[in-house]
Amino acid sequence: MTVITFTVSVLCLLPPAALARWACERACPASCSCTQEKSCSVLCDRSGMAELPREFPCEASAINLDKNSLKFLSERAFGTLPALKTLSLDHNNISFITPGAFKGLGNLVELKIANNDYISYLHTRTFTGLKKLVRLDVSNCNLFNIPDRIFLEQAALKEVRCFENNFRRIPGAFRGMENLTHLYLERNKIEAVAYNSLLGLRGLRYLNLQENLINVIHDGSFQDLLRLENFYFNDNLLTDLPRHAFRGLVRLKMLNLGGNQLTNVSRTWFGDLVELEVLYLDRNQLVNIEEGTFQNLTSLITLHLNSNNLTSLPFPVFQPVYFLARLFLFRNPWACDCSLEWLKQWMESYKLVRDVPCASPSSVAGLDLGEVVFARANGTCVDPGELNLTAAPADVASTTENRFNSLISKLLQQEIREELGNGTESLRNGTLAEAEDGQLSAGVRGQRAPAVLCFVAVWLARCT
Ligand SMILES: *[C@@H]1O[C@H](CO)[C@@H](O)[C@H](O)[C@H]1NC(C)=O
Ligand SMILES: *[C@@H]1O[C@H](CO)[C@@H](O)[C@H](O)[C@H]1NC(C)=O
Ligand SMILES: *[C@@H]1O[C@H](CO)[C@@H](O)[C@H](O)[C@H]1NC(C)=O
Ligand SMILES: *[C@@H]1O[C@H](CO)[C@@H](O)[C@H](O)[C@H]1NC(C)=O
Ligand SMILES: *[C@@H]1O[C@H](CO)[C@@H](O)[C@H](O)[C@H]1NC(C)=O
Ligand SMILES: *[C@@H]1O[C@H](CO)[C@@H](O)[C@H](O)[C@H]1NC(C)=O
Ligand SMILES: *[C@@H]1O[C@H](CO)[C@@H](O)[C@H](O)[C@H]1NC(C)=O
Ligand SMILES: *[C@@H]1O[C@H](CO)[C@@H](O)[C@H](O)[C@H]1NC(C)=O
Ligand SMILES: *[C@@H]1O[C@H](CO)[C@@H](O)[C@H](O)[C@H]1NC(C)=O
Repeated sequence: MTVITFTVSVLCLLPPAALARWACERACPASCSCTQEKSCSVLCDRSGMAELPREFPCEASAINLDKNSLKFLSERAFGTLPALKTLSLDHNNISFITPGAFKGLGNLVELKIANNDYISYLHTRTFTGLKKLVRLDVSNCNLFNIPDRIFLEQAALKEVRCFENNFRRIPGAFRGMENLTHLYLERNKIEAVAYNSLLGLRGLRYLNLQENLINVIHDGSFQDLLRLENFYFNDNLLTDLPRHAFRGLVRLKMLNLGGNQLTNVSRTWFGDLVELEVLYLDRNQLVNIEEGTFQNLTSLITLHLNSNNLTSLPFPVFQPVYFLARLFLFRNPWACDCSLEWLKQWMESYKLVRDVPCASPSSVAGLDLGEVVFARANGTCVDPGELNLTAAPADVASTTENRFNSLISKLLQQEIREELGNGTESLRNGTLAEAEDGQLSAGVRGQRAPAVLCFVAVWLARCT
């Protein structure tokens, strides 16, 4: 059996309604028998239509009315179209949908009403009759809420897009929708996630709550999301999370908590996320990550910790670091002392991390951790010193290794000044600020490069 598919693209030119109706019907006439072999698409987008055609061809399987000027959908606005699978009304000027507007579209799978700026309200019976609906798009409208029982008939609904509306909480309508797999709620004005907001969403695999105003997540809010794989929670106002916020989310592969105001990461947060591959904690104000936090993340591939207030990353915090393929640490005020020596070695061994800028100690400030040379005394790492040499404790400055190390670091920074002309003694004397204030004589400046070599040679000779 050959399946004949008429896919008719009709450019419905002005004057809109009459011509459009004629063109569409002529191409795919309403009077033809509705055989299963035939299907047709009505493509009447951008055709200046202010009202719906009185009739659509009965075997239409797709109707596209995007970018017209439709204002209003009456009851049974489309008649009875048993073959219709997709209906798109994006970018119109619809402000009211009469309850029962879609009655007669019993096989509709996808309904798109996005970008209708004046829809601020949906009646409980708006979607009556749409028993096969799988995908609904009401994003970028002007909705403040949707009624709790609006999806009562939509047992097959899997994907709801309602981003860019004005929701201040997660609509109760989604509660218990066990067949829902994708929920898009980004760019609303949601302020909190209540313990029951997401109850019963056992099939949910994708949840997007990014760019809301969420500052509170109640305990147990995500407890039913056992199949969740991708979770966007970035760019909200979170300062903390419940201790066991993500308990049970064993399928989670990507969690984005970037762009919040978290300061401490608790070891209890990620304990169950054994399949997590990508974790975003960037653009927070993290100062502290508890030891063991990443302990159970045995599938982790990428970790984003950039743009925080981290100064250190003790090795125990970080196990099992060896599972990682990519680690982002830039834009943090790292303290490049011996506690980060492991990271430097790890960077060198695996070449997976770059950009670990040092903010302190001052002798290495501005360097990348990869450039810092850690000195050793009796096999033990010695911290790079502070540059405020008048204040430097005598015992730190007394190890020649340390002085050499600071010097090399400064050479790399090209901030070395008069010290070079005058041996190590002058390191104890004067600060960098003084040197930069112009106390450096032209003569010394001119001899700078040879002086460096000379000094290093002298030092090595003395040392060996
Ligand atoms: C769209 O609808 C609103 C409210 O119904 C109206 O104020 C506005 O003028 C309409 N815009 C266009 C372009 O028709
Ligand atoms: C989910 O789908 C199943 C099978 O299609 C159906 O029996 C059930 O009622 C649906 N659940 C809900 C909450 O609609
Ligand atoms: C963060 O951790 C620090 C040090 O452990 C602690 O003093 C502080 O109270 C913690 N802050 C929060 C918000 O938990
Ligand atoms: C890691 O998983 C084990 C076993 O499931 C659990 O006992 C432990 O508490 C988890 N660690 C953390 C930090 O949650
Ligand atoms: C993080 O650093 C920023 C900028 O330096 C500062 O404004 C903020 O108070 C710091 N936050 C914490 C928790 O230390
Ligand atoms: C290094 O070890 C030697 C002998 O083991 C000891 O005398 C010396 O004090 C040690 N120096 C430092 C800086 O620990
Ligand atoms: C250097 O140390 C002195 C003496 O402790 C202190 O008064 C001064 O503020 C310090 N300067 C800097 C830049 O830390
Ligand atoms: C070098 O140090 C000596 C004393 O150690 C001092 O007399 C001399 O002025 C210093 N030179 C410069 C350029 O700082
Ligand atoms: C630096 O050392 C020189 C000579 O060693 C000395 O004359 C000068 O007073 C010292 N400057 C300071 C700020 O200690």
